[in-house]
Amino acid sequence: MGNIKNLEGKYIINTYNRNPDLTPLLIKAEGSWLWDEQGRKYLDFLSGLAVNVVGHCHPEVVRAIGEQAARLIHTSNLYYSEPQVELARVLVENSLPGGKVFFANSGAEANEAAIKLARKKDPGRYKIVTAYNSFHGRTMATLSATGQPKHHQAFQPIVEGFSYAHFNDLGSFEELIDDQTAAVLIEPVQGEGGVHVAEESFLKGLRELCDRRGLLLIYDEVQCGMGRTGKLWAFENWGVSPDLFTVAKGLGGGLPIGALIVSAPYTALLQPGEHASTFGGNQVVCSAARAVFKILKEDGFMEQVQKKGLIMKEALKKAVSDYPNLVKDYRGVGLIYALELSEPAAKQVQGRCTEEGLLINAIGDNILRFLPPLTISENELKDGLKILNSLLTEHSAKN
Ligand SMILES: Cc1ncc(COP(=O)(O)O)c(C=O)c1O
Repeated sequence: MGNIKNLEGKYIINTYNRNPDLTPLLIKAEGSWLWDEQGRKYLDFLSGLAVNVVGHCHPEVVRAIGEQAARLIHTSNLYYSEPQVELARVLVENSLPGGKVFFANSGAEANEAAIKLARKKDPGRYKIVTAYNSFHGRTMATLSATGQPKHHQAFQPIVEGFSYAHFNDLGSFEELIDDQTAAVLIEPVQGEGGVHVAEESFLKGLRELCDRRGLLLIYDEVQCGMGRTGKLWAFENWGVSPDLFTVAKGLGGGLPIGALIVSAPYTALLQPGEHASTFGGNQVVCSAARAVFKILKEDGFMEQVQKKGLIMKEALKKAVSDYPNLVKDYRGVGLIYALELSEPAAKQVQGRCTEEGLLINAIGDNILRFLPPLTISENELKDGLKILNSLLTEHSAKN
């Protein structure tokens, strides 16, 4: 199996830059744990980048996929689909009652659908204001929506009509709005940008601003939705509803699915033939998502996420005071958290965590991000935080 790492270099385009010495070859998983080909065990504080919200191979998700796969995998969207309608029903009833759903295969595709819908609303209004540090995907439109110029550089010219304001700074959004602006697109919790949580007054202000100027307020909940913040949708933390929002990552229990959920007044904007996807929301992915949703809706599930979130918060807060020369800040809510380091040591700490059996994520040089499965037990969470703490101690002692 060691050969796989060599063969990868030969056959796979190197967009992910995996380090063969530090990146395990994972071959099986269960709950909050993964195993590599040598039988080494890893505790998961990454969840496949916010995907495995109910852990790995949850029996209910495995069963739903297996049963549906044995019955009917795919028909195309030319035909009616029971799993799709059932999933759309629970999505809408639990978010924007009276609304409707468009199914895609990924977060970027869900955002593409949102962008197209926003451009259709009022002829002549095509501009969308997003935030610096945001991340909305890698297709040309979502890349252009992403407020990180480093992602644009190699692909100029980017799609016209996007401008970037400062997150949590209402005035900077207002300044960019003109008569051609169609929408504001925002992550209530910025994920890839380093885990920045929106302030309540900011979201309330954006809602009021969008209403006053006739703009759509669109939330990208691709990463922060599906219970990640301790509420089903991140926006529930502030009680500020969008006109449309997108979800993906956590929705399919590991299968690729994205969804755009549109509130009642805007459900007829996209007409037959104006948007489509061959695979979008096929029978198997929708069955998996229904099973994930059922688990998230179990009594007490979100309270547990909030409780575990507080354990994580306390540990990270303590890291800021225990390692003042290494750890500059902690940020997050629910079970999406980050530590900002005061030196470019993120990859080093992440590598050492992997060696010690804990999978975490480094964003750039200075930020460590933690996204455990929402089903992680309190003991597993504490064990992972202990490993992290020991490596912060080790790093601080060395420097
Ligand atoms: C907030 C947000 N939006 C969109 C995307 C893009 O999703 P995908 O990689 O499924 O296209 C991501 C991916 O990290 C994300 O975090």
